[in-house]
Amino acid sequence: MSTDTWTWWKHGTIYQIYPRSFFDSNNDGIGDLPGIASKLDYLQDLGIDALWLSPTNRSPMHDFGYDISNYREIDPVFGTKKDFRNLIEQAHKRNIRIIMDMVMNHTSYQHPWFQASRISRKNPKRDWYIWHDGKNGRPPNNWRSAFGGSAWTWDDITSQYYLHSFLEEQPDVNWRNHDLRAAMFNEMRYWLDRGIDGFRFDVINWFIKDKHLRDNSFLNLMPLLNLKRYDRNRRETHDILKEFRTLLNTYDDKMAVGEVFTFPPGDPKLSARFLGNGSDELHLAFDFSLLYRPWNARMFYRTIKHWYKAVPQEGWPCNVLSNHDQPRSITRFGTAEAEKRAKVAATMLLTMRGTPFIYYGEEIGMRSVSISRKHIQDPLGKRFWPFFPGRDMSRTPMQWNSHKNAGFTDSDPWLPLSPDFKTINVESQMKDNDSLFNYYKKLIHARKSKKALTHGEWRPILKGHRGILAYRKKYGQDKIYVFLNFTAKHKTVILGKRAQWRVVVSTHRPSTFHLTRFDFTLAPYEATVIEKIGNL
Ligand code: NOJ
Repeated sequence: MSTDTWTWWKHGTIYQIYPRSFFDSNNDGIGDLPGIASKLDYLQDLGIDALWLSPTNRSPMHDFGYDISNYREIDPVFGTKKDFRNLIEQAHKRNIRIIMDMVMNHTSYQHPWFQASRISRKNPKRDWYIWHDGKNGRPPNNWRSAFGGSAWTWDDITSQYYLHSFLEEQPDVNWRNHDLRAAMFNEMRYWLDRGIDGFRFDVINWFIKDKHLRDNSFLNLMPLLNLKRYDRNRRETHDILKEFRTLLNTYDDKMAVGEVFTFPPGDPKLSARFLGNGSDELHLAFDFSLLYRPWNARMFYRTIKHWYKAVPQEGWPCNVLSNHDQPRSITRFGTAEAEKRAKVAATMLLTMRGTPFIYYGEEIGMRSVSISRKHIQDPLGKRFWPFFPGRDMSRTPMQWNSHKNAGFTDSDPWLPLSPDFKTINVESQMKDNDSLFNYYKKLIHARKSKKALTHGEWRPILKGHRGILAYRKKYGQDKIYVFLNFTAKHKTVILGKRAQWRVVVSTHRPSTFHLTRFDFTLAPYEATVIEKIGNL
């Protein structure tokens, strides 16, 4: 692993904001850019180094911004370009970078490119999207949309089908077309020139489809299987990523993180492939395996091990527990002793090797919220209720205080608030030294002061047996040890040498402790990060 190019996206802590739900500055019930700008002090205090904003571009919002109709405009619901400029400026003053979500596997059907493409088979933009004749009165092949149904929709205007891997309002663009490619690069350049620090690329592994549109095998008809398929994970995608990297390299210190969209159980090898040789494709790629694991130390250990093994030597991992598509981590970890578990998980996230991503509200333990049918907004929830309630559960408004609407808005929020906001909110947790918020804050600040935590090599010590995960982080002479008790029981662990230790962060321990025996006992759900300061 190369340690010579240490930069913000390797050692920083990145925070994902779902802009609709962070803070509403104009009281229309929807969060916005000035709202985010007004909370930068909060984020700075927490120790955040960069923000990834889910899309704020112009969009008809069929998929809440993941269907862009103009890459260069800000959707009025979120504010103006001036608001965006101001946010970048204010964030940069606080040393906080801004990462934009670039959704480029598809556009909105309202994008002028698609409007032109659909109007006639002869239109110069026809080939910017994927059009095809049907087969015996049926769609061209058996590909399924990730959101259900065929991935093809018939269009009467030119009597052909177009491909959409998601909603029919999200037609897939044709990355094999060089003009489309050039146009997309221009959209990226546009934002890079305006001071954006990086991109999060949506569903990067779906950009290129099989040239011959071959059927997926029968086993793959269920979108839940990650077997070899013809509608994604194609080799040619890597050529595009190399071009992205070349573009980003012409700027100073920019970063690209890619969403490698997989269903359970996740696929670390696939995710790592998008890092190329570690320096020629994406800077970071998400592997969602951890999000699909139940609360089990051994499984977490194995997941981490496979992920690290998959990441190329010169590459760098990133780690994440929650995002806008998945149930919130604290809820996934179970309701019993949820907060204690959340502290253990936070310790892991912020001390593992790799860049940590935190999802807004994770730092105060916001839960997944059950949304009644009449309040469902997510198109997936609308389509699949009651079998799948949709993704609104993890997109509810940020809980700032115990006042009306949790201080998020003065009018009706676009999604209902969690009923627990009276007790779970930023204001009350800031005052409580033992709160999850203050624990996250301590961990994030500890990272900033200890290179072993950010830069260090990771070596497992206890591999999840008996519910304990422990590892060492080492950078030069500095060694830090992390002990995580995933269980509700006391557990004795052998540390090796009698010594005096300083506690870097701990859920249970005072600042220093002496080890007079070769072992020590972890309290139930104890997470302790220690460094050795001397022999006894
Ligand atoms: C992945 C995004 O995370 C998700 O929210 C979106 O619905 C799909 N891509 C389609 O853009």
